[in-house]
Amino acid sequence: MQQVKGVVAHGKGAPVRIETINVPDPGPGEAVVKISTCGVCHTDLHYREGGINDDFPFLLGHEAAGIVESVGPDVTNVVPGDFVILNWRAVCGNCRACRRGEPWYCFATFNATQKMTLQDGTELTPALGIGAFIEKTLVAAGQCTKVDPSASPAAVGLLGCGVMAGLGAAINTGQIGRGMTAAVIGCGGVGMAAIAGAVLAGASKVIAIDIDDRKLSQAVEIGATHTINSKAQDPVEAVKEIVGADGAEGADVVIEAVGRPETYKQAFYARDLAGTVVLVGVPTPDMKFPDIPLIDVFGRGGALKSSWYGDCLPERDFPMLVDLYQQGRLDLDAFVSEEITLDDVEAAFEKMHHGDVLRSVVVL
Ligand SMILES: NC(=O)c1ccc[n+]([C@@H]2O[C@H](COP(=O)([O-])OP(=O)(O)OC[C@H]3O[C@@H](n4cnc5c(N)ncnc54)[C@H](O)[C@@H]3O)[C@@H](O)[C@H]2O)c1
Ligand SMILES: [Zn+2]
Ligand SMILES: [Zn+2]
Repeated sequence: MQQVKGVVAHGKGAPVRIETINVPDPGPGEAVVKISTCGVCHTDLHYREGGINDDFPFLLGHEAAGIVESVGPDVTNVVPGDFVILNWRAVCGNCRACRRGEPWYCFATFNATQKMTLQDGTELTPALGIGAFIEKTLVAAGQCTKVDPSASPAAVGLLGCGVMAGLGAAINTGQIGRGMTAAVIGCGGVGMAAIAGAVLAGASKVIAIDIDDRKLSQAVEIGATHTINSKAQDPVEAVKEIVGADGAEGADVVIEAVGRPETYKQAFYARDLAGTVVLVGVPTPDMKFPDIPLIDVFGRGGALKSSWYGDCLPERDFPMLVDLYQQGRLDLDAFVSEEITLDDVEAAFEKMHHGDVLRSVVVL
């Protein structure tokens, strides 16, 4: 067991605090990872606000890269010294999703069995089974994905959650392909990554939609071909105008990366007939499906999909995306707005809330 510093959310809406945390030595199938960097994702803020569940206290942070420090018995996929990105999808290989060849839907993903605790023995709930705003964390070894150690940890660590979620929402869930049109509602870290994914996949038009002009200018740098400020214009009409030359009633794929009923409704109607909506933004439990006539769901056809973690398979996708980054074909550095310390997480939430950053990244 060792004692390290970590960022804990004690109760709904209460500011996070740095605490001394007991990290057990790795047991069978577990690894202790020395964290190098961890991005601040909107999901951490959802946890702190009680929007995910009530299992306080939470050890926040889950978008991390680090170095494996020690491994428990039976661990074969990593050894101490390996540079890894932490993932929240260590698939079981055995559940009904894994057995039918769709492991990205795995229903029984692995996390560490032992618990990290506060000094008084209170068990912590690690965000997304990771908990990485901490000097060292305990995870299931399968949550460690080895990647090229020469890559910048601050940049590639973001593949551990939000950037992978966005890229995968475009490429895996949305199945955007060459020549298709795409629109993305909400251009934070996740939506911006969806834009990058649409560009990478060869979309002919990539429309960025946000209520913040700063995000829209960044979206153009990432490769968006058109922007819409949905405070100034009706986004549904604006998308139709952009893609409608050949009679299209909307974009082939619309990605919702905010997680609200009103933006979901915009995504629904900004989509062409037989098109696809991908919900990657995470709603809170109180939100309801927007008021949409069922005949519109039927009449427009196509697919309404949700995207957990971009339907990624970490072992397949992380090394490949790190290679694209290393080759200069995927600009992950553009997502790192600032580098901060563990003490600055609360301030980073504030900046995120005001839309001042794509990603604040804690560097340890
Ligand atoms: N599905 C997944 O696996 C997954 C993974 C990570 C994060 N998420 C979720 O994705 C969402 C986005 O995360 P993020 O880290 O990019 O957050 P963020 O706060 O950085 O970005 C949100 C963006 O949405 C914009 N926005 C807010 N209201 C809007 C509106 N009405 N219309 C248009 N744009 C609006 C904001 O200006 C901002 O640019 C969150 O709900 C987060 O929990 C999902
Ligand atoms: Zn499984
Ligand atoms: Zn996240």
